[in-house]
Amino acid sequence: MKGFAFLFLLSFFLAGQTKAQREKVITDESKVPEYNLPDVLTRFRGGKVKTEKAWFKKQRPEILKLFTTEVYGQVPGQLDIAEVKVWESSDEALNGLARRKQLSLFFRNNGHNLEVNVLMYLPKTTEKVPVFLAYNFTGNHAVSNDPAIRLTESWVANNPSVGIINNQITEQSRASSEDRWPVEEIVKSGYGLVTVYYGDVDPDKNDFSDGIHPFFYQENQTHPRYNEWGSIAAWAWGLSRVLDYLETDQMVDSKKVAVLGHSRLGKTALWAGATDQRFAMVVSNESGCGGAALSRREFGETVQIINTSFPHWFCDNFLKYNDNEEELPVDQHMLLALIAPRPLYVASAEGDKWADPRGEFLSAKYASPVYELLGKEGLPAKEMPEVNQPVMGTIGYHIRSGKHDLTLYDWIQYIRFADKFLK
Ligand code: GCU
Repeated sequence: MKGFAFLFLLSFFLAGQTKAQREKVITDESKVPEYNLPDVLTRFRGGKVKTEKAWFKKQRPEILKLFTTEVYGQVPGQLDIAEVKVWESSDEALNGLARRKQLSLFFRNNGHNLEVNVLMYLPKTTEKVPVFLAYNFTGNHAVSNDPAIRLTESWVANNPSVGIINNQITEQSRASSEDRWPVEEIVKSGYGLVTVYYGDVDPDKNDFSDGIHPFFYQENQTHPRYNEWGSIAAWAWGLSRVLDYLETDQMVDSKKVAVLGHSRLGKTALWAGATDQRFAMVVSNESGCGGAALSRREFGETVQIINTSFPHWFCDNFLKYNDNEEELPVDQHMLLALIAPRPLYVASAEGDKWADPRGEFLSAKYASPVYELLGKEGLPAKEMPEVNQPVMGTIGYHIRSGKHDLTLYDWIQYIRFADKFLK
């Protein structure tokens, strides 16, 4: 309790510094401080990891535990899907190109009920298909102009320009993110798309009374403990539950599920891939701070800034590292290494300095020794590639021109990368 009170006061003290800190945001490479990165294959008590066995039995569990207790937070218990309700399915979606299926997963505990809506588009074939599983930001109806998509009734952050008013979406919100979701290209390439609104699992606000967190509270508890899950870990948990469902779906090859996410949902995809080794491939699109970018570089968004702007994303223990990155026992290349030997793609955008493209590249590079130890290629580039020149080993990377976004260009690379591993 004492420790918690201390952290609470500390967070207030540090929150007060944010403005000054913001003014100091590093966007110039020459301002990056000198830092010592923990080596991913050096044991915390000293000595080198030299075998696959030592990686999986010793080093990997220790790294995973540190990310769990110090960064994203522990899931406090187990909860299975209580009910699956299929709302509709059609073999004539997208002008006859695809199958569509819409269903809800229900979770129940402690007198709470949560409904998670799943939208699937699948190629029409008798074989089980590989899929991309990706959260969307404002509801399933935003990914396509298909009028059959059910409108979400969940809380959504206001955005009047796409008809989101009083935290509810409207008909006007349909297809509002379709540029990010080239559903036809995905299906024509032989992949399914499975998408879910992330706010179904936990609304993205600093409020722990809603979403999945209260399902696990002990009596009188209103907030996760200092080492327990923030929202990113809750969203990652949700992805694993969707995968539980996919394991039962006859149309999906659940051994070939690529988990993909953009930005905060890229951080989430990485944590899902780290905590759940059933995900066959992981894609981080511009995940930045708390995702693929190295924290110790302090370039763009820093630990202090993210903890202040989004106090609900990480566990409270992560506050200890505000303006104190060198004390982190891990850095984000070690998160990427937890995904080895599975294929991992990290992507940046030239105009997305906030997410530190170079820090994302270096993270992929410094995760590579683990891939190599496990007999895979890792990232096939020592230096950062030119803009729009993807490199693809078992780790892939590109920096594309343009701003922070998930674009057709990005998807084309992810499909090419998936073709190497999931076909
Ligand atoms: C903010 C935040 C980032 C995050 C992004 C997003 O910019 O600072 O960490 O990735 O939102 O999710 O769009």
